[in-house]
Amino acid sequence: MKQFDFGENWKNFSKKAMSEKNKEQARIDFSELTENINLTDKTFLDIGFGQGLSLLIATENLVIPVGCDINPKCSSVLNYNRNFFKNIENVNIPIITGSILEDETIKEIKNNYNKFDVVHSWGVLHHTGKMWKAVKISSSLVDKKGYLIIAIYNKHWTSKIWKSVKKIYNFVPKFFKKIMLFTYIPLLFIRTIISGIKNFRQIRGMDFYYDAIDWLGGYPYEFASKQEIIDFLKNDFELIKYIPTWGFSGCNQFVFKRKNSR
Ligand SMILES: C[S@@+](CC[C@H](N)C(=O)[O-])C[C@H]1O[C@@H](n2cnc3c(N)ncnc32)[C@H](O)[C@@H]1O
Repeated sequence: MKQFDFGENWKNFSKKAMSEKNKEQARIDFSELTENINLTDKTFLDIGFGQGLSLLIATENLVIPVGCDINPKCSSVLNYNRNFFKNIENVNIPIITGSILEDETIKEIKNNYNKFDVVHSWGVLHHTGKMWKAVKISSSLVDKKGYLIIAIYNKHWTSKIWKSVKKIYNFVPKFFKKIMLFTYIPLLFIRTIISGIKNFRQIRGMDFYYDAIDWLGGYPYEFASKQEIIDFLKNDFELIKYIPTWGFSGCNQFVFKRKNSR
């Protein structure tokens, strides 16, 4: 089954829902995740930059940015969202369009930049179809003493159910997609109330409606527990920050630092 068209959803999000308020929320959450990391003049690769908010905020924080996304629409979405970041309008943000799993893409990254002080990939690697390979490749692009910042869907007993739901959503015609979406939105609403009123604040500048489409459509879909991620990276990385999902099967956020031995 072909990958969900994230670029189209980001295009709609940017045109219809992006605002100064979203930008401010995204800034707050990015700062929380990267606090204690000095980003100034650090090389920063954002794998699967999507709508580009993290990449743009990192650029505001004076990194030397590079973006990579498999979906060619994301590049124009990023350019559109640059309108909200006039303070960095003269900064060049090089973009590589290609899959992080493909040799061609990795070659292009390595030939032009080699390794990075920070590799950031938020909510991406579990959508590649080969999550563990994608984690391995991303981590291999982190330079000595560099950081790997990733967000990966949490493993929960509901994860397998969601996998089937997402598969069905991507398979059915548009009309049924709408029915699924408008059945899911009230459930999401109730879950948000149960998990605490503070979660009505849409995290990272996202939007309730477009986030719901992203969640239902986001396929391929894999997941991992906190410990599985730590164990997979433990030889080369130490976990220095962890923010668990506020829900059940949402994204756990990890900040790893490369161990001194390399
Ligand atoms: C859920 S979105 C996350 C976007 C953004 N990182 C964020 O934090 O909102 C996943 C993004 O990963 C991209 N993506 C999926 N598979 C990829 C791959 N193999 N290589 C590079 N990007 C990929 C999609 O096109 C999409 O923009």
